[in-house]
Amino acid sequence: MDFKTTKLLHGGDYNPEQWLGRPDILKQDIAMLKESGCNVVSLGIFSWSTLEPEEGVFCLDWLADVIDQLYENGISVILATPSGARPKWLGDKYPEVLRVNADRHRNLFGGRHNHCYTSPVYREKVARINRKLSERFGHHPGVILWHISNELGGDCHCPLCQDAFQQWLRDKYGTIEELNRRWSTTFWSHTYQSFEQIESPSPRGEMGLHALNLDWKRFVTDRTADFLRCEVQAVREGGSELPITANLMYYFQGLDYFRLAKELDIVTWDSYPTWHKQELIETAYDTGMCHDLMRSLKGGKPFFQMESCPSSTNWQSVSKLKKPGVLFAQSMQAIAHGGEGALYFQIRQSRGASEKFHGAVIDHYGGSDTRVFREVCQVGETLQRLSELAGSTVKSPAAILYDWDSQWAMNDSQGPRNDGLHYHETLLKIYRGFRRQGVNVDLVDMGCALEGYRVLVLPMVYMFKEGFAEKVRAFVEQGGQLVTTYWSGIADDTDRCYLGGTPHGLMDVLGIRSTEVDGLYDWEENELVPVAENELGLSRTYRCKYLCDLPELRGAKTLMTYGRDFYAGYPVLTEHGYGKGTAWYVAADAEREFYADFLKLVLKRAGVPETVCGEIPDGLEVTTREKDGVRYYLYQNFGTRPVRVPLPAALVEALYGDPDAELAVCQLMVLKEMIQAAE
Ligand code: GLA
Ligand code: ZN
Repeated sequence: MDFKTTKLLHGGDYNPEQWLGRPDILKQDIAMLKESGCNVVSLGIFSWSTLEPEEGVFCLDWLADVIDQLYENGISVILATPSGARPKWLGDKYPEVLRVNADRHRNLFGGRHNHCYTSPVYREKVARINRKLSERFGHHPGVILWHISNELGGDCHCPLCQDAFQQWLRDKYGTIEELNRRWSTTFWSHTYQSFEQIESPSPRGEMGLHALNLDWKRFVTDRTADFLRCEVQAVREGGSELPITANLMYYFQGLDYFRLAKELDIVTWDSYPTWHKQELIETAYDTGMCHDLMRSLKGGKPFFQMESCPSSTNWQSVSKLKKPGVLFAQSMQAIAHGGEGALYFQIRQSRGASEKFHGAVIDHYGGSDTRVFREVCQVGETLQRLSELAGSTVKSPAAILYDWDSQWAMNDSQGPRNDGLHYHETLLKIYRGFRRQGVNVDLVDMGCALEGYRVLVLPMVYMFKEGFAEKVRAFVEQGGQLVTTYWSGIADDTDRCYLGGTPHGLMDVLGIRSTEVDGLYDWEENELVPVAENELGLSRTYRCKYLCDLPELRGAKTLMTYGRDFYAGYPVLTEHGYGKGTAWYVAADAEREFYADFLKLVLKRAGVPETVCGEIPDGLEVTTREKDGVRYYLYQNFGTRPVRVPLPAALVEALYGDPDAELAVCQLMVLKEMIQAAE
């Protein structure tokens, strides 16, 4: 079921079980939540030992009281299931619930996320408390959403998980011969005689069988999804039909989020950018791309920022305060990229234990006369003014391929550059190229539909899963503009290299074959030199580093050539018409200005209209959302000085800010344009 809200959400994690003996604190917190325009809190995230202090003894009255008081004051609740950390009695009585690490040692009790997703006992105990919570609170008018566990992640290598892995492999491959074939086990004499012999990867044993590593990661995602399903099932058995979410993490590599998101009604994520490590706009691109990924996980359905820090975290290497305006800018960016809310970790700072110095809306001092609290109030007030944005969606003409399986396999592959493939930086350069034009971008995986996009980029898509090349071919045939880079289409679903030339299945679409790849030392560079009067009108020379692929022409035209080394004069950027579309091949890791200039020309070729009139100044982010025949333009200044914003071509009215004035650093402007009712 879909999650719908008529207002933008503002609030955060709240853990009142820490001060149950202080009703005055709850009163004060509620007053401050109201004062700061907070309309929602996440409750119960790590409350298991308070909810069930002894096995089978449930104490839910305190929670009922908190939910009631919040509700009476207009504050809704996102109710968590407590499985993220377990009570001591559970670990003591049933040691099987504790996780076994890759070294095959069982952990002692402690920490969080320290449990086995397979353990029937753990599943049963979690299901029991979930049912209780659902029975008691599932129909409370103040509860709006279930928050399953917390930041699901990690793997368990216990005997139960090994059995489950073997069964998963049996289901996938049918016979051990088929597994041996797909995993290339004859290499280094790794052939298995039976599924029972297979063990999860371990630093004490097998780590070099890439297909084993890959399937283990897939299994871990499936196991986690299965655990999540059990949690949800118990919530449903308790009678609640409310939508569910799980809070995801920044580009987390431990789980395939496209797969996991299928189990969720709404995606939410925890955003902790290190704002002052580099220029604000660089962090804004990185964070913006993550918002776009999260939005794309469920094909553009609503999502929101579940956590962010009101001041500084206590777990990053340096606890840097957010400078004035930055909390506001981060919160507004969560909305600008399509989110339905901006929430924090945490509402009130804990007094003791490991997060006592983590920033909060209400700090140890406890008053509302703090810099942070004032900024939180400003966020709250602004979100109220922008509430008509709730439910509006983002339409993207461009998509970048982002696939977990492909990244897992590529990162494990050994070569062509073990010193760093710079994948994330490459993505960011491409992303920035689109965003400099104010173009919205989706991030899609190989399972996503491609129809509807005008431009598709495949950056280092090492793995082409079965059927993917055909899908891309159809995209270009029907008029899509495709950009493919070096190190794409190299291996299949089980990380076996394709025979007969790469990029596999797309050589005729791109009109090239990749012949060899040169890994460059960190200090080496080459360059992309424009061919005189090339099709796109590229005129500058750009630098490239790290990886240089040498494509052989098979019908494509050369637009740029390498400037140095023995391959000076070889093609480095090619173009090939295919069907109604065009396919470009970028053979080297080009500097970001190349992508900015090149993608601008590709967008033009694709007929994507300009978002706004005139150049977008450096540091300015422009995004759009649409709803009920209205397009909203959201401008955010992540630059270093005030700027005048380039306006849309059509007539607009201001919803927030003044289009005739300069936009100050960290500030927001929102304009509205009437468009045809969205089809
Ligand atoms: C994560 C967790 C929270 C908290 C914060 C601290 O996002 O979900 O419980 O630990 O980190 O930044
Ligand atoms: Zn286990």
